[in-house]
Amino acid sequence: MKTYHIALLPGDGIGQEVVPAAVRVLKAAQKDFTLSFEAFDWGCEYYLRSGRMMPPDGLEKLRPFDAILLGAIGHPTVPDHVSLRELLLRIRFEFDLYVNLRPVEILPGLESPLRWKKSEDICMLFIRENTEGEYCGLGGRFKRGTTDEVAIQESIFTRKGTERVIRYAFEQARKRPRRRLASVTKSNAMQYAMVMWDEVFSEVGRDYPDVETAKYHVDAAAARMITTPESLDVVVASNLFADILTDLGGALQGSLGLAASANLNPAERRGPPIFEPVHGSAPDIEGRGIANPIAAIWAASLMMEHLGEREAGAAIFKALQAVTAEGRVRTPDLGGKSNTDEFTSAVIQKLES
Ligand code: NAD
Ligand code: IPM
Ligand code: MN
Repeated sequence: MKTYHIALLPGDGIGQEVVPAAVRVLKAAQKDFTLSFEAFDWGCEYYLRSGRMMPPDGLEKLRPFDAILLGAIGHPTVPDHVSLRELLLRIRFEFDLYVNLRPVEILPGLESPLRWKKSEDICMLFIRENTEGEYCGLGGRFKRGTTDEVAIQESIFTRKGTERVIRYAFEQARKRPRRRLASVTKSNAMQYAMVMWDEVFSEVGRDYPDVETAKYHVDAAAARMITTPESLDVVVASNLFADILTDLGGALQGSLGLAASANLNPAERRGPPIFEPVHGSAPDIEGRGIANPIAAIWAASLMMEHLGEREAGAAIFKALQAVTAEGRVRTPDLGGKSNTDEFTSAVIQKLES
């Protein structure tokens, strides 16, 4: 029987609550394969004990795994730019996981806050550039703390990095019935990086005459997600732009607790892919057992699909949909009274029936 080795990085806050929920569902989904899990306690508590977010050989420890299931990193006890840079961003960058795939869809039985839209109107797939751009981390501070202080935060857009993520987005658009791809830009104000982004988008587009393309400035794209989300199918954007737009996407889905993501390198393997919710560690609700585990369970379903266990991935997603469709068991962020465990048990029940 095939065994997949999964590294668990629950991380901080509600990451500690939603990853165990996803693992319960994954265990119930094992049929003609097995999953072996190894949990790593890296995160902000680990940092407070050791002065590091992960051990010096952390990346080497992760490398042999087939996939990583991550909860969330970040806690008020450690500055976010330290915790996130040294753990999550470090893994994304060093394993060169250049695609961050983020579906924005309405699950059955749930309503978008856009009450005047039908649920089919909101069905987007965001492809976020995940290894460079505004997140490259280059810069510095000069005359720190003085009135003359200067802070520089550079962005890096390489032709290679831009091309590969745009090409991946075209491939995804080609596989979907509507075959539409929108590029998010800001070339009216960013005359170097975003003008190159636009040029690469046009150039790569020539190889995909069957895909209908559009290009929107990021401000207009944000408005469009609210006014005419039905006009958006696959959307490709830079690291920061897509970060912002996909939290908006989560809100359109009905809660940040619903948005799932996959960090991938579709071309070559430098390390395992990461599957994770889009949301953070939600310190405002941590420890109460009420976090919505849908995003984490959805991410687990994406993971199974990616591992080649399409049936298991689909079964998990169907079970999730069956529970939301019934509407009996919901966490408080969706207006319900159920807790994380109750929702998870309901999904497992569907999976087993
Ligand atoms: P957040 O996503 O943690 O929370 C925003 C709001 O959404 C909060 O009100 C929270 O309660 C709610 N929410 C989020 N997920 C939910 C869920 N599953 N169920 C119910 N409600 C949910 O964003 P934030 O408050 O900006 O960030 C908190 C910490 O998480 C920070 O340290 C931040 O840097 C970090 N963060 C980490 C990741 C990650 O590891 N991938 C992502 C985003 C933020
Ligand atoms: C996300 C998160 C991270 C990001 C943060 C925590 C660094 O917001 O995965 O969307 O911006 O990529
Ligand atoms: Mn984000």
